[in-house]
Amino acid sequence: MNELDALVDSARQGFEQAATPADLENAKAVFLGKSGRITELMKGLASLSIDEKKARGAVINQAKQAIEAALNARRQALADAELDAQLKAEALDVSLPGRQAGQGGLHPVSLTLERIEGIFGSMGFDVAQGPEIESDWFNFTALNTPEDHPARSMHDTFYVEGGSAKAPNLLRTHTSPMQIRHAVQHVNSHRALLDAGETMPEIRVIAPGRTYRVDSDATHSPMFHQCEGLWIGANVSFKDLKVVFTDFCRTFFESDDLVLRFRPSFFPFTEPSAEIDIQFQSGPLAGRWLEVAGSGQVHPNVVRNMGLDPEKYIGFAFGMGPDRLTMLRYGVNDLRLFFDGDIRFLSQFQ
Ligand code: DAH
Repeated sequence: MNELDALVDSARQGFEQAATPADLENAKAVFLGKSGRITELMKGLASLSIDEKKARGAVINQAKQAIEAALNARRQALADAELDAQLKAEALDVSLPGRQAGQGGLHPVSLTLERIEGIFGSMGFDVAQGPEIESDWFNFTALNTPEDHPARSMHDTFYVEGGSAKAPNLLRTHTSPMQIRHAVQHVNSHRALLDAGETMPEIRVIAPGRTYRVDSDATHSPMFHQCEGLWIGANVSFKDLKVVFTDFCRTFFESDDLVLRFRPSFFPFTEPSAEIDIQFQSGPLAGRWLEVAGSGQVHPNVVRNMGLDPEKYIGFAFGMGPDRLTMLRYGVNDLRLFFDGDIRFLSQFQ
């Protein structure tokens, strides 16, 4: 092997051993740099004759080109290797399952409220919503519960700021104020008919929502739900209440095997008044009377506060506890579970 072939060979080896682009640049300097081996050889040409220069120059040039080719090949190899390593490091496993967005669902009490609205909706009842901060007038006075009435002490009321000493604001203790609010709105929207001495369309409404009392144990929560019902017309009787409510309970619990009992009771806004108890004839709750609602024929004073003549309009109202209905339907024994927000409990209803 001549001297130049040996030089090209040692350059190839030097480049081959360079493990990084920086090493490679150092190796390049040894052969192709300003004071590198090829430059030295070129300098040696100066002392040669013209013909010798031509011949010698040509072979040195060949050697130089061979070294440059080896350098470029190694550069490319190192760049390829780096890209390979990067691709491996950043590899995506497209067969991995995706991250799932957790599926939400309705709260069990919301499911019950939807059910209640659906069932009463099918019987022609509207659904009304009203404020949770209520005035003393709508919550008590208009419902035939004057200031000094003992019935006010039946409710442990949260009072809130605003209003006056005589007419304080409070968190509604029941959904019954919606009877007045909705009826007054209904009456106002049929004012022309009433003024003409004609009969207005019946009021048929339910009003579900949150209610508040100072109370907390396994069956009471300071925030709980109620659903009010009201049906007022020229000729609505207690019999209608029985039919409607029996139908509701049997549909809600999906059981014809269920009996109702209307037990005499007292509420200031109804006369007569009744607690409604239900009894399953089969299943885990069979044989026990379970209280599900208060009800009664709307008191004449309340009908008057709705803006109607109690000699012409009559009807019934009821108020039930959707939380309790949910407990009965699903066999839950502690009301607080509904409001603790524990996803392990809540996800069971999806
Ligand atoms: N508001 C009553 C309560 O919270 C429940 C109730 C009883 C509502 C009789 C009514 C009714 O509409 O007629 O205890």
